[in-house]
Amino acid sequence: MRLASVRGMRDILPAETGLWQGVEGAIRELFGRYAYREIRPPVVELAELFARGVGAETDIVHKEMYVFPDRKGQMLALRPEATASVVRAYVEHAMHAGSDLVKLYYLGPMFRYEKPQMGRQRQFHQYGVEAIGSLDPALDAEVADLAAQLVADLGLDRARLRFRVNTIGCAADREGYRGVLLSHLGPRAVGLCSDCRRRLEQNPLRVLDCKVPSCREIVCEAPSSADHVCSACAEHFEGFKGHMEALGLSYEQDATLVRGLDYYTRTVFELASEELGAQDALLGGGRYDDLVALLGGPETPAVGFAGGMERLVMLLHREDREEPELDWYVIPVTDDPEVVRWTSQILAAMRRAGLAADRAYVRKALRKSLQVAARKAKGAVFVGPEEIASGAAKARDLAAGVERVVSLAALVDPDAVRGQLAAEEAS
Ligand code: HAM
Repeated sequence: MRLASVRGMRDILPAETGLWQGVEGAIRELFGRYAYREIRPPVVELAELFARGVGAETDIVHKEMYVFPDRKGQMLALRPEATASVVRAYVEHAMHAGSDLVKLYYLGPMFRYEKPQMGRQRQFHQYGVEAIGSLDPALDAEVADLAAQLVADLGLDRARLRFRVNTIGCAADREGYRGVLLSHLGPRAVGLCSDCRRRLEQNPLRVLDCKVPSCREIVCEAPSSADHVCSACAEHFEGFKGHMEALGLSYEQDATLVRGLDYYTRTVFELASEELGAQDALLGGGRYDDLVALLGGPETPAVGFAGGMERLVMLLHREDREEPELDWYVIPVTDDPEVVRWTSQILAAMRRAGLAADRAYVRKALRKSLQVAARKAKGAVFVGPEEIASGAAKARDLAAGVERVVSLAALVDPDAVRGQLAAEEAS
């Protein structure tokens, strides 16, 4: 009999690993830029960590976790997610003693015994961040901003992605909301699917994110958690949304977003893409202000998110990206004949100097042109009337995201320009 890989656990073949390495590199670089440091917890933990941390009644722990005894009969689990592990490590190594805010990131395989389908595997890979130690709603928005920046750095079309946000309040709010929800759903229980009828008893909040159409119909009329949180949680949510707006991050408030893990408090969010089909969450996260204490540490608020690598790689394949092969992509910022002439001259000078370069011929919004540039080139050069006056152009290192005005002579030596930009970024 020929042996095959286990259902839901697939090989990542050499044809794909280049893309994976590129994405992992971009993630590490970006997370570092936002001051997160890598942590690598083990793949195997005590099963009890997830029962306590994620919740014994959640689908993830109750139905999907790989649990097995070791030779001494101790119950172990393949980690289904990493937040509980990171918090365990935070407590175990007393990381709070070193700093008031600890920012950690991770990349690695997770395991859930789910029904395999597009975008859902039994072994999958997550990238994620956890910021432990602050209750500031600006931190929730910073974490969301990091997610948005990742998408931008990878050249994905942000217009096709939507932030869904909600607040589920503190533990006391949830207890109250549970009652409100039960009195709405109870009389309508006959219309719910069998899973939801069971959820009604254990965790009625989970009924809200059921995908079965008959349940969705009942749920869309249900009272929303955001209307049933205490004033401190409501203020926090308003603060979070205000910071999102200040950062230019558009979102929609989704009363049915509750997430499938029990540790969440207050802010929850997901970044979703229609292109991912039924499993449309590219990443998800939120606040978990009680988890550190629950796992034996001091009362410490925290927020984070995680995303699935497979889903990210799938979107990048969809967009049929070309590898950035050009040194420069030149973008004239107006149709002014002077600007167009100067663009051609710069382009010709680059090519004569042996560089691979191209220019935008179709004028688009600057943001769109930058997305094209990110797909094609390592650097972008903007030509506008002000730069011409000084015999120069604005150059942007697309990997590092830094830019400055440089002379034509410098542009034909992009390594020197990028070296300078990198040095400036580092200083
Ligand atoms: P989660 O929503 O369970 O959250 O998973 C986060 C992301 O992992 C999902 O949005 C999805 O992209 C990916 N994912 C989950 N399950 C699978 C699967 N079976 N196959 C492929 N991809 C999958 C958490 O895990 C939380 N720990 C996130 C977090 C961090 N919250 C706060 N900090």
